[in-house]
Amino acid sequence: MDRRTVSVTVNGRRCAAEVDVRKTLADFLREDAGFTGVHVGCEHGVCGACSVLMDGEVVRSCILFAVQADGHEIVTVEGLGNEDALNPLQQAFVEHHALQCGFCTPGMLLAAVDLLKHCPEPTEAQVREALSGNLCMCTGYANIVRAVRAAAPSVRSG
Ligand code: FES
Ligand code: FES
Repeated sequence: MDRRTVSVTVNGRRCAAEVDVRKTLADFLREDAGFTGVHVGCEHGVCGACSVLMDGEVVRSCILFAVQADGHEIVTVEGLGNEDALNPLQQAFVEHHALQCGFCTPGMLLAAVDLLKHCPEPTEAQVREALSGNLCMCTGYANIVRAVRAAAPSVRSG
């Protein structure tokens, strides 16, 4: 099996490893870079759990090879905030009870970051459309949509 060295900036930190050319970006981020906030669900681009930002745009890391991210910048959920200083979207998810098991949450947050960058004042319909590729088995979505809209003013002013 061919192997290649991949070098990716993840949450501002350079991560390099020699990997099988067929290794997915999701597995690289979890296993080689240590960012286990990247959740792997369906593994074929359907559920959105593995979503990350690549050069600022949301992508599904389970259907990209790690070699395709070579030289690019990735942000995972670990790059948004931390326990002491949550990002406004994370804070709104807490305040609006927008998560239960949390499996879908990293992907939801990163899809919402992408949405608010392109659409700083989204309607409910725009939030639902933007998150329509992110599946949640627990919440029923209403609180997720509320949380994203509630966070929008802070993201705009931040
Ligand atoms: S795990 Fe990547 S879209 Fe489901
Ligand atoms: S909170 Fe459990 S899958 Fe969304």
